[in-house]
Amino acid sequence: MNIDIVNENISFDVYKLRKEFPLLDQQINGCPLVYFDNAATNQKPLSVINSIREYYETINSNVHRGIHTLSERATEAYENSREKVREFISASGSNEIIFVRGTTEAVNLAASTYGMQFINEGDEIIVSAMEHHSNLVPWQNLTSRKKALLKFIPITDNGELVMDEFKSMLNEKVKFISVVYVSNTLGTINPVKEIISAAHSYNIPVFIDAAQASPHIKIDVKELDCDFLAFSGHKTYGPTGIGILYAKEKYLDLMPPYQFGGEMIKNVSYEHTEYNNLPFKFEAGTPNISGAVSLASAIDFINEKGLLNIARHESDLLKYAENRMNEIEGMNIIGNAKNKTGVISFIINGIHPYDTGSILDNLGIAVRTGFHCTQPLIEQRYNLPGTVRISFAVYNTVEEIDRFIDGLHKVKKMLS
Ligand code: ALA
Repeated sequence: MNIDIVNENISFDVYKLRKEFPLLDQQINGCPLVYFDNAATNQKPLSVINSIREYYETINSNVHRGIHTLSERATEAYENSREKVREFISASGSNEIIFVRGTTEAVNLAASTYGMQFINEGDEIIVSAMEHHSNLVPWQNLTSRKKALLKFIPITDNGELVMDEFKSMLNEKVKFISVVYVSNTLGTINPVKEIISAAHSYNIPVFIDAAQASPHIKIDVKELDCDFLAFSGHKTYGPTGIGILYAKEKYLDLMPPYQFGGEMIKNVSYEHTEYNNLPFKFEAGTPNISGAVSLASAIDFINEKGLLNIARHESDLLKYAENRMNEIEGMNIIGNAKNKTGVISFIINGIHPYDTGSILDNLGIAVRTGFHCTQPLIEQRYNLPGTVRISFAVYNTVEEIDRFIDGLHKVKKMLS
């Protein structure tokens, strides 16, 4: 079946689009690859791959340092990428965009600068019960060092936040909230705007982990009014090792530097250092210049296809896959929120997720198995040994879902 993705501005054919992704055209274990592990990292279009090569072939040089032409070109490309990110998330100024390694580093930056400076004994920090380890462990560590308390917004069996409970947790002791926009395990799209607005009525700043939102949902930090937000390049059709932290200027001004060294300084004497302006105060050392430049190409790719088109296509795949999976006896889908992206976690009665994953891999179908970096959610909240997870990207097709369903029937035949 050929799916045409259409909105009022753009129309494209998923089979034509797949040709932009060279990695997809290969055999794994003697079968054509079906790549359903997009929530872990998605594949890169040629335009992104070429932009890395072009950067090193034409302008590679250090940024903000030289007056020579190449350095000026590299600096211009790097700063243009920052501007591209600003536009992508509708931030007010590009000085509010800090390049980091990825979402994990962004959370660590916020916890070890804002957190170490402003969280005190007896304070409370709220996260949700569906956080990825990267938005849990840094806050666990901070609250334990500061003798503060970490609290969890509970979730329903369907995988939705219990918003009444969240609102009743708000009080003067709560000094920070950090919540995932889209769950990597359940696919739930959380009502982050409502969370932010409730938090702001107590003057509590809110951090949004948008790692699983950036390739699927239009992010508008002004409309959300979030105080901090992070996403990773490699989940956004870009390279690994690059991501961004957005924060409102008023918070970045208050926060001490994260790391110290070159680039983040204005004046240095043997005795004293004056730190640089934003955003450079938080970018010590030579940054990942080619990563930033190719992240801009990834954003161009998304803009060219249209986030609305991408979301619509993935939502069609989600509905089709869930319907077909529910035909299988013993199928349990974990996470049935009303508002979901194309992520399906499941377990088949009596079959260990690793066995399902291994048999699918033998058929060339890449899925993720285990805790998905959300061990407390899987083990403590759902009391499971793990799940199998499939997650879609713009290039996935209905035929691939059919092959996956055939694979599940083989799994059942072999192991039931
Ligand atoms: N956070 C990534 C995932 O969900 C690694 O698989």
